[in-house]
Amino acid sequence: MAHPDRFLLAGVMGWPVMHSRSPMLHGYWLKRHNLAGTYVPLAIRPEGLVAALRALHPLGFAGCNLTIPHKERAMAIVDEVDTLAKSIGAISCVVVRADGSLSGTNNDCYGFIQNVRQEQPGWRPDVGPIVVIGAGGGSRAVCYGLAQEGAREIRLVNRTLARAKSIAEEFGGPIKALPWEQRHDALEDAAMVVNTTSCGMVGQGALDLELDKLPKTALAADIIYIPLETPFLAAARKRGNRTVNGLGMLLNQGRPAWRAWFGIEPEVTPELRAMVERTI
Ligand code: ATR
Repeated sequence: MAHPDRFLLAGVMGWPVMHSRSPMLHGYWLKRHNLAGTYVPLAIRPEGLVAALRALHPLGFAGCNLTIPHKERAMAIVDEVDTLAKSIGAISCVVVRADGSLSGTNNDCYGFIQNVRQEQPGWRPDVGPIVVIGAGGGSRAVCYGLAQEGAREIRLVNRTLARAKSIAEEFGGPIKALPWEQRHDALEDAAMVVNTTSCGMVGQGALDLELDKLPKTALAADIIYIPLETPFLAAARKRGNRTVNGLGMLLNQGRPAWRAWFGIEPEVTPELRAMVERTI
């Protein structure tokens, strides 16, 4: 590694971005694979996104991940958006191709499903109704993934009903939009409930959801990872439900990114998970 022929470069563009655990995750994999390279946090203001994305190629970057608030706007900037990202309506990962053009994809969906599978071996999406709370970008990836995995009924509840309705209309299939007032009742006979809202995130109020009607056998999942256990997950755990937090979604979405950037499939190991957990 003293004289590598290629120094691998990738990063995450966001505003703000310094809270992101991605540099730690990718730094771990670079070291683990004994590669010369770095993964940097790129603090990019919305007005700088076009120039920043176009600079990836001349600077020698293999690509980048995108986080708040760039996931939707980047779709109009890159040269090609794959079918998955188009359906979800957001890009989470940009790949610089050999000719310098930029392609966009979305790995959040893979990250969510893979995390649930890893944390709850034997999990099946088709054993009962799934309640998804929230209808933002995160929800789109979760709903798309669950539908693709074979979920038979997805009850999508959002404070702003219109946003839930547009996801139900666009995706069709098993998704039914329900008004916010029905969120507590929607848990009846559910096999799984997922929080995709920002409620419960550090600095935000807790999710207003009464769990009384949720069967004790149901799985409760959150896509938030700071804190690791949101008030929603803590309440579910205390009444005996199995829970899955959002950290593994972040870790797992990095795998397809590496495949696309570097042609390597890195592992999400317990050691990696514990290392990132210690910083939260
Ligand atoms: P992201 O792309 O990260 O999912 P987003 O598009 O801003 O972020 O979506 C945030 C989600 O959290 C939305 O479903 C939002 O509900 P609205 O569509 O009604 O805005 C939800 N949300 C945020 N604050 C909320 C609150 N206090 N109560 C209920 N839902 C909330």
